[in-house]
Amino acid sequence: MEQVIGSYVTLKRAGSNFNGLCPFHSEKTPSFTVFPNTQSFYCFGCSAGGDVISFIMRAEHLDYVAAVELLAARAGIEIPKDGKAPAEGEVSRQRVFDMNRAAASFFHQCLMDPAIGGDAMRYLSEQRRLSRATIRHFGLGFAPPSFGMLTDHMKRLGYTEQELITGFLCGKSQKTGRAYDYFRNRVMFPIIDTAGRVIAFGGRVMDDSKPKYLNSSDTPAFKKSRNLFALNFARTHCEEFMILCEGYMDVIALHAAGFENAVATLGTAITAEQARIFAKYTKKVIISYDSDEAGQRAASRAMQMLGEVGIDVRVLQMSGAKDPDEYIKTYGADRFRRLLGQSRTGFRYKLDGILAKYDITQPEGRIAASGECCQLISEFYSGVEREVYIGQVSELLNISTDVLGHRVEQLLKKRVREAKEAESRRAQADIRGVGDRINPDTVKNVRASAAESVVLGLLMIYDEYRNAVATGKVVLREEDFFTAFGRRAFATIMELQATPGGYSPSLLGQTFSPDEMGRLQQMERQRRSLTHNGPEVFRQSVDTLKEEKARSDGQKSEDVISDITSILARKGQKQTDKPTGGK
Ligand code: CTP
Ligand code: MN
Repeated sequence: MEQVIGSYVTLKRAGSNFNGLCPFHSEKTPSFTVFPNTQSFYCFGCSAGGDVISFIMRAEHLDYVAAVELLAARAGIEIPKDGKAPAEGEVSRQRVFDMNRAAASFFHQCLMDPAIGGDAMRYLSEQRRLSRATIRHFGLGFAPPSFGMLTDHMKRLGYTEQELITGFLCGKSQKTGRAYDYFRNRVMFPIIDTAGRVIAFGGRVMDDSKPKYLNSSDTPAFKKSRNLFALNFARTHCEEFMILCEGYMDVIALHAAGFENAVATLGTAITAEQARIFAKYTKKVIISYDSDEAGQRAASRAMQMLGEVGIDVRVLQMSGAKDPDEYIKTYGADRFRRLLGQSRTGFRYKLDGILAKYDITQPEGRIAASGECCQLISEFYSGVEREVYIGQVSELLNISTDVLGHRVEQLLKKRVREAKEAESRRAQADIRGVGDRINPDTVKNVRASAAESVVLGLLMIYDEYRNAVATGKVVLREEDFFTAFGRRAFATIMELQATPGGYSPSLLGQTFSPDEMGRLQQMERQRRSLTHNGPEVFRQSVDTLKEEKARSDGQKSEDVISDITSILARKGQKQTDKPTGGK
């Protein structure tokens, strides 16, 4: 447990446990704890928690099966591949990887065959100026302008139409229901994950027709929001920093020019998951988006996302070219390297944005600009940073540091006050369970929810209680639980208990998301931290659940009655007697 987690987080021993900085949210003081005794982890900051499998699911963005496979591979254990056949209509991840690899090689062959891929090759090498070596390095290919070439080829290799459709290599004809080639007459960019597997494709037209790119949608083997183009190469060149661009072509041009630390998102704005991937590989990211307005807007967002996971973010400013690809073609790699060196911090980038809005040769312009600058500076929590920035702005706007400093102080106080208020509102809401995404029902009945978490916590720890419920010694049913989450947790625990292998906490990961696992873990931990977990505690909480259930059932019938009464009243009928009157 601690070895596996220790390869992601620097852990320090603290008594019988280990502490470290949480890999799942950004923090300065360690609230992430590993408990070797219970083989679990928990973050007191963000409530992430669970066992080693849920850790891997989160850290590697994998599903349950893939996480188990990864752990097994680490331990040198082979999992029999035929162990669990995919259900009907389901295609295993491995099958998708295999078919993607076969398709990538088909596309590449097509590109290399002058009779089929002559135009595509000319497009890539002449118009886009890519060398043969680069084309080979990225495994680029060509999807011929035919409805069936790939499909026929893949069928010959033993893939079924259904599999090809699931893998997004084929579309499905509305009329006949038959499969046809999804990518046609496009140059193909295979997307390869850090394990070297082909997980998806992007395909670009060679003229101005639309859509410019066609991409694989999410498949059992692929989620756009969790992958980066060229990370398979960049991962070994990113100690110092990484470059984030918008386009596949930008990344390829950068790699070809020697910047092998460049990656791109897959046709979407950067997600929190992708930001965490960056944080895993590097300390610093230089955003190198297109110079148009859309690119700059996207850069602001990326800056924020990356800043939130603790990355030192820089923004590259490019003029004379629309994107890095064009810039390198026009000005060369050395000029681009210089641009990287001149990339601005988030502060400088925003400051320049403010200065560009106003005419600071005029008093009004200076006043307005100084107001915005102070606002911006007040967002920095480090006093040193604020002082440095105040100095810069003072020089630029020719306003004394005292005046600026005073204004920043005021804004900062206001900001701190507001943050405190928001914090206390959040804390109160937490107590009442408002805004609880994982278990939104909590707020509706605090007493029932509390009893529920005691019962579930005990069930997760003690075989005796699970047995008592399974044998009917303690009568407890799914519907006795108040929240939908509680019902699901109870049902899952008892289902597992009934299997030959019995209940095991790690099996919960098959049903619950990492966030939900964190919640379950929290319930379990709460019980473990108490010495008194005897049968009377269990009984009492079960009784509370039933009481609350009876009360809310009663409530419901009262609600119905009052509904009926008001309907009657509205209809203008005389309310002579109540339906409960038993007349
Ligand atoms: N993209 C997409 N679908 C589109 C347009 C763009 O998925 N219809 C995604 C692709 O991942 C593309 C990225 O957005 O790489 C950036 O778009 P763009 O700058 O237009 O593409 P480039 O790759 O730079 O292509 P080129 O230089 O050939 O125009
Ligand atoms: Mn481009």
